[in-house]
Amino acid sequence: YHVDWDLSAAEKGGFDWFMRKEIYEQPRAVADTLLGRHTEDGSLTLDEIRIPEAELRTIQKIIIIAAGTSFYAGMVAKYAIEHWCRIPCEVELASEFRYRDPIVGPTTMVVAISQSGETADTLMAIRHAREQHARVLAICNTNGSTIPRESDAVIYTHAGPEIGVASTKGFTTQLAACYLLGLYLAQVKNTMFGDEIASVMKELEGIPPLMQQVLDDSQVVVDLAARLIDQPSVLFLGRHVGYPVALEGALKLKEIAYLHAEGFAAGELKHGPIAIIEEGMPVFVVVPPRGRDQLHEKVISNIQEVRARGARPIVLAEQDDTFVEQFASTVIRLPKVSTILQPLVAIIPLQIFACELATQLGHDVDQPRNLAKSVTVE
Ligand code: G6P
Repeated sequence: YHVDWDLSAAEKGGFDWFMRKEIYEQPRAVADTLLGRHTEDGSLTLDEIRIPEAELRTIQKIIIIAAGTSFYAGMVAKYAIEHWCRIPCEVELASEFRYRDPIVGPTTMVVAISQSGETADTLMAIRHAREQHARVLAICNTNGSTIPRESDAVIYTHAGPEIGVASTKGFTTQLAACYLLGLYLAQVKNTMFGDEIASVMKELEGIPPLMQQVLDDSQVVVDLAARLIDQPSVLFLGRHVGYPVALEGALKLKEIAYLHAEGFAAGELKHGPIAIIEEGMPVFVVVPPRGRDQLHEKVISNIQEVRARGARPIVLAEQDDTFVEQFASTVIRLPKVSTILQPLVAIIPLQIFACELATQLGHDVDQPRNLAKSVTVE
């Protein structure tokens, strides 16, 4: 008599893949990352940032460096940090930064984002920055890994171990950490009023249940994957923070479904991407919340443009945004959140879509071909 004890099935907690389990852990992971970040009086504390506040006030420029999914979290961070802190912020791929001659000095803060803390390019990039006396802050998910050890300060994300090669909870917890950093710098630099910071923090802390809602409502995405199984190519469009979400949505499809997928800034459509639209091509569009700016309106016209060329727009939009329905072939509903925080909820359907499509195509979702969880060599 022989019992087939499948350890990995047990570790996956009833899910077919670690990736799917990790997608579903996101509300918890983000909540844990946000836990214990403020004092009684409501102000933010990031105890791990051992850089004195006086020194933080001297920072003239931030350069975010990262690779893969972490780079897209960095792109979102740029929007938040420049908006909240009024500090010029660049985002650069670690593999590019390390071989250039960047303008870095003691008033530069380099923020290295790395889930594993071991990515070779990101590590070499922070060494390159430190040689030039930059302050280095790491956003990392792995305690005691090399990148945080070689940094001046670290904000740990509390995603727990991420096993799936394609990052999911790694990404959303990085976003949470980036928002915390942005709000903290705004507090230190006095670029926002205390009650403004408190109100963004309150909204941020209210996001995990909304992420849960997106997970609970994901059947539409599963059905969509079944319908799109024969597609050779999928496009993703977004503007503002929806742009990195589009890039990350496309990356998930490449990584695990081995599908040709591209993310574009919707405003660039006329500069090339629109030429590749063919009849029936699925185009995911991240629609920003309806706000006081023109962002929403602009994205609606982009949807009309691709639709007029025969594309099938799959629209991710706020739940009470009924206006978009007439332009969409499928609508994926997102909870109501402010624009800057929207990536936390908008990425989830795209993760599920990729996971589902890859599963239906029969691929090994947790160990996609040619990819490694951490790239410790060049
Ligand atoms: C690899 C992984 C990706 C990850 C990237 C950066 O390519 O497959 O999921 O986003 O490395 O890794 P890091 O650990 O530095 O965030």
